[in-house]
Amino acid sequence: MPLVEIRDLVRQYHKGGETITPLGGVSLDIQAGDFVSLMGASGSGKSTLLNLLAGIDSPDEGTIHVAGVEITSLSRSRLARWRAEHIGYIFQDHNLVPVLTAWENVELPLLLVKMSRTERQRRVDIAMQAVDLADRAGHFPRQLSGGQEQRVGIARAIVAHPTLVVADEPTGDLDAETSEQILGLLGRLNRELDITMLMVTHDDHAAATAGRQLTLVGGKLIESGRETVAAVDAVAAVAGMGETSASRDPS
Ligand SMILES: Nc1ncnc2c1ncn2[C@@H]1O[C@H](COP(=O)(O)OP(=O)(O)OP(=O)(O)O)[C@@H](O)[C@H]1O
Ligand SMILES: [Mg+2]
Repeated sequence: MPLVEIRDLVRQYHKGGETITPLGGVSLDIQAGDFVSLMGASGSGKSTLLNLLAGIDSPDEGTIHVAGVEITSLSRSRLARWRAEHIGYIFQDHNLVPVLTAWENVELPLLLVKMSRTERQRRVDIAMQAVDLADRAGHFPRQLSGGQEQRVGIARAIVAHPTLVVADEPTGDLDAETSEQILGLLGRLNRELDITMLMVTHDDHAAATAGRQLTLVGGKLIESGRETVAAVDAVAAVAGMGETSASRDPS
């Protein structure tokens, strides 16, 4: 059975008599250990899909199973507990708490689950080492570079040993060289620690570092290896969307 099983997911928003349908029946399987990238034009529903998968939002229709649990049927309080145990979230702007040290920021998710203090300290130390920041543990976010802050964000996302890590444009705010380091780190965590990852990105190169590439277009999800770029363009044309592979990549 796949680790993540999404079926016929629909999410709509109503605004001033108008209905937007970022997700119009999306189905997806993710296997344990997959590293999946998710692309799509701005407003195509990438963050919407991530938030549904992370149990932050709930769909209008459809089901999401994660490790056999149907998360769309959990109560609010059970969903909050489930999220703390099973989901690591990496944000574009890392969302670190400025008045806590790097170490304390990484500790935060563990305060939401039942765990002894010794085990908590052990886990935080290991996560700091995994992102190669053990020597910066006592630094506050403002004392770190953008790339280091993002590495703290990554340590925080993996510290609770989540079932799934979702990342929403994790390199969106970083320069090319730092992006490369972060992508390398995510790839290494996926391969060496077997962390299953779904990463939203606007960058073709970042997407290509993942083992599988998905694109959201016109409310539908397309698995887009090179051979299916034409299919993405066809759907984009039908959906009346401007972005095609040609406009994305003029070379
Ligand atoms: N809470 C909300 N209320 C109303 N509309 C929303 C809400 N959240 C998202 N939307 C709309 O749903 C669509 C999809 O938004 P989403 O944030 O998922 O796009 P995205 O693919 O992540 O875009 P970007 O690349 O700019 O981050 C957009 O048209 C957005 O305006
Ligand atoms: Mg988004």
